[in-house]
Amino acid sequence: MPVAPVDVSGCKLLITGPTGQVALPVVEHFAKIADVYALARFRKQEDREQIEALGATVIAADLADAASLEAVPGDIDYVLNFAVVKTGDFDYDLAANGEGVGNLMTRCSKAKAFVHFSSTAVYEYTGHEPRAETSPLGDNHRVMFPTYSISKIAAETVCRFVAHQRGIPTTIARLSVPYGDNGGWMYYHMLMMQGGVPIDLHPDKPNYYNPLHADDYIEKIPYLLGAATPEVTTLNFGGSQRVSIEEWCAYIGELTGFEPVYNENPKAFGSLCIDTTKMHELIGTTRVDWKDGIRRQLENLAPEVLKATA
Ligand SMILES: NC(=O)c1ccc[n+]([C@@H]2O[C@H](COP(=O)([O-])OP(=O)(O)OC[C@H]3O[C@@H](n4cnc5c(N)ncnc54)[C@H](OP(=O)(O)O)[C@@H]3O)[C@@H](O)[C@H]2O)c1
Repeated sequence: MPVAPVDVSGCKLLITGPTGQVALPVVEHFAKIADVYALARFRKQEDREQIEALGATVIAADLADAASLEAVPGDIDYVLNFAVVKTGDFDYDLAANGEGVGNLMTRCSKAKAFVHFSSTAVYEYTGHEPRAETSPLGDNHRVMFPTYSISKIAAETVCRFVAHQRGIPTTIARLSVPYGDNGGWMYYHMLMMQGGVPIDLHPDKPNYYNPLHADDYIEKIPYLLGAATPEVTTLNFGGSQRVSIEEWCAYIGELTGFEPVYNENPKAFGSLCIDTTKMHELIGTTRVDWKDGIRRQLENLAPEVLKATA
């Protein structure tokens, strides 16, 4: 059964990780309609200024430091937790990503709904099989980000624990490949193609993912809030279209004239496409066609690389 979207207009909405690639367009969108509080460590003054310019109230705090969260107002209505660290230091990354979500939920235990953004990096590699929410978990991203998958799994566990203990309506959304006009994985691939840098590719080709455009994840956030229950709803959160790295690099090649150079590497991240059944049932299909999304990304970030005819 599809869930009803939550109307956040005029509500107090806390967004963590606001300066990140994924959350920045979310802050930009919701700051126009809600009372947005944006939480990060804000070690750089320009980050703070960027977020304030969007109309959000900045909160400088570290999720790993529960005392610093006293700065969060006690009457937040809704929370979107995008913050993440990947320093490679297990102690800190588990404290910030794992305990951090617990600290935040404890502080915001009166919230009407809490969405924790996780990752499909929590799934074990199992070839081309689309991963359902019940699929086995594993240390998928160890090669590139040693602490990432483990601390995202830890974060989900802490999130469920606090939701159950405190009765906080919660959704855990496992993002596939989020991208948009401000960046995403395929933009790095374009830069590698431009520089002739080999792109690591798992030999079990094609390497499928479910890229999710910012327009779609912004549109779906009210539904993720609507799906939240104290039992915790866990769902995959990717684009409805399954697209391979090979397909998006070939399309970038069409647009730019750059040729991808692949380096087959069994240690590269392998296919990580999702079973969209539960996502479609609860929050519906996504709308942005992947080719339109990639073209728009390049038009916005690097118009000079587009061929005149593309
Ligand atoms: N990008 C992807 O391709 C992708 C794929 C799947 C899932 N996801 C998930 O999407 C979410 C956002 O990812 P992203 O790539 O946008 O992240 P990002 O670009 O690395 O940004 C991380 C954000 O978290 C903040 N942050 C880091 N440590 C913090 C701490 N200890 N306390 C408070 N804030 C902290 C950072 O600001 P400060 O440094 O100023 O604190 C920044 O705003 C994450 O949960 C990630 O796991 C991303």
